[in-house]
Amino acid sequence: MKTYRNIVVLTGAGLSAESGLATFRDKDGVWSKYDYREVATPEGFARNPALVHEFYNMRRRDLKSVAPNAAHLALARLEREHEGSVLIVTQNVDNLHEAAGSHNLIHMHGELLKVYCRHCRAGQSWSEDLSTDLACPACGHKGGMRPDIVWFGEMPYQMEEIADALADADLFISVGTSGNVYPAAGFVAEARNHGAHTVELNLEPSEGASYFHETIHGPATSVVPEYVARILKR
Ligand code: OAD
Repeated sequence: MKTYRNIVVLTGAGLSAESGLATFRDKDGVWSKYDYREVATPEGFARNPALVHEFYNMRRRDLKSVAPNAAHLALARLEREHEGSVLIVTQNVDNLHEAAGSHNLIHMHGELLKVYCRHCRAGQSWSEDLSTDLACPACGHKGGMRPDIVWFGEMPYQMEEIADALADADLFISVGTSGNVYPAAGFVAEARNHGAHTVELNLEPSEGASYFHETIHGPATSVVPEYVARILKR
């Protein structure tokens, strides 16, 4: 059986679902309750910053009561025990990969626990609520502090590093993502074109399931630890 050297794992909201954080597009998901144009676009923030702050304040507060699940822990174990490289590229803005012990991690859609000022761009860690009358600690401007979240219409982070890692990967694993949002949804094709074996681990077949060489369906807390154990046994 083939052994792998460079592994890239793309993760999405389904990975954190069993920790108690809502996904976006499932029944009762975040986008069934909120219009993404109002809370996840620069235009929505310009129209109603208080609403956007309320939305992300709620999600930031949720992080105080959740813990990594068996799937996050298995991916951290993969990074620790695999002899080659393991890079996690997450679309999730929670901090559960870090809490599980993953280090080689890219938050391509930003982080709930970071904010920046849209006037001076100074960024910082932030675990409390944001409000419209808050002054930026760096430049003193009021009203410009925003969550460090990549909104629709904005460029995801570290795309060059991700492209390099996908080109070098010989195994690409996608976990808990519906494959609806580009550029992440295109990573499987990119990795596959460069010769990687591609695997989908998801509750159900995603939009892009047919692009994968291998698909395993079930809850992340069972399919991810099982798949990681398989890789580490090789
Ligand atoms: P989605 O809500 O679109 O998809 C979640 C996927 O996880 C679905 O395919 C579910 O079937 C699957 N799933 C649900 N529970 C699961 C479980 N217990 N185990 C395994 N899989 C499970 O979330 P994402 O694909 O992450 O972006 O969404 C991508 C981006 O769209 C997000 O980063 C966010 C959103 O708009 C921004 O806000 C910029």
